[in-house]
Amino acid sequence: MNKIRAAITGVGAFLPEYRLTNEELSTMVDTTDEWIMKRIGIKERRILKGEGKATSYMGAEAVKNLLEKTNTSVDEVDMLICATITPDMPFPATANIIADKVGIHHAWSFDLNAACSGFIFALSTATQFIESGRYRKVVVVAADMMSSIVNYKDRTTCTLFGDAGTAILLEPTIEDIGVVDHINHVNGLGRHHLHIKAGGSLLPTSSKTVENGEHFVYQEGQAVFKAAVYGMADVAVEIMDRYNLKSDDIDWLVPHQANLRIIDATAKRMGLNKDKVMINIEKYGNTTAATIPLCLWEFEKKLHKGDNLILAAFGAGFTWGSVYLKWAYDTE
Ligand SMILES: CC(C)(COP(=O)(O)OP(=O)(O)OC[C@H]1O[C@@H](n2cnc3c(N)ncnc32)[C@H](O)[C@@H]1OP(=O)(O)O)[C@@H](O)C(=O)NCCC(=O)NCCS
Repeated sequence: MNKIRAAITGVGAFLPEYRLTNEELSTMVDTTDEWIMKRIGIKERRILKGEGKATSYMGAEAVKNLLEKTNTSVDEVDMLICATITPDMPFPATANIIADKVGIHHAWSFDLNAACSGFIFALSTATQFIESGRYRKVVVVAADMMSSIVNYKDRTTCTLFGDAGTAILLEPTIEDIGVVDHINHVNGLGRHHLHIKAGGSLLPTSSKTVENGEHFVYQEGQAVFKAAVYGMADVAVEIMDRYNLKSDDIDWLVPHQANLRIIDATAKRMGLNKDKVMINIEKYGNTTAATIPLCLWEFEKKLHKGDNLILAAFGAGFTWGSVYLKWAYDTE
């Protein structure tokens, strides 16, 4: 009997309506559209507004969109994993809140924190449950409300990030489609270059930490950039080599959208032309865990059953990883 593989059988997304443009940002900090486009490649990002709305809201909307698109009932879902670094609150898990909001009551759920590699790590994890044969419908949510942790007075970080919620459905298949393999890496020393200092058990929130802005994202941009360029390209090439894949064998690179220059460097190392690379950073910025599924959602109609996809990401931790999968369906 053929081995069970996990196949992505649907993609859902939610994007907040508000568009924070480079023009508006340049009224908030000392920056310009020209600098942002040249150094990062972002024109605008979506920002979630509205009292009581947070990451679980975007995640739940994305799951509703996914279940409707795939004609799946809430009672069929066995498990839900939410990749996020902006949970609604430290506990309980945002996955638990999303499941409740959507009405998924027969599944267990938990959060996974791997920052910008969150989707890759969650997909790798969820795949194991499907491959085991015990789980038939696993939802992976990747959602981040980065606007809740970004300092809009810091020009070195506030230009980069946006908000979004996404969800994919994973189901078993014995056809030659679905997730073929994954390679994931971590180097915890990277924590020194990209983190939030306060609000955890090491430095609980106090009026002093708030005064110092230690509840916001701290990033040493150049150190992260250098590590990301090498990490993302290395792991993408590593998985290509493992399967002896040449650039002609690959239909799509689906890269994490942090900086257009990092995406270009990865595509170049893989020998890919730009027309094989999913890019939407200009419209949404870096939505952290959500970038890769947001690309799949946006490019869904261009994908065909059997297409070879390489997913690749790099993020805080440092974490980085790659998934090789064969797309599972055609969209009418
Ligand atoms: C953040 C990032 C865009 C900065 O670009 P960079 O080319 O490395 O720029 P630098 O940090 O070297 O700064 C160069 C100059 O631009 C300035 N600058 C920084 N942000 C600016 C902005 N928004 N507008 C105008 N100038 C800016 C800096 O102050 C610096 O000025 P100085 O030379 O007078 O000191 C880039 O480092 C990056 O993308 N890093 C990785 C981000 C990332 O992937 N993070 C998420 C994890 S996946």
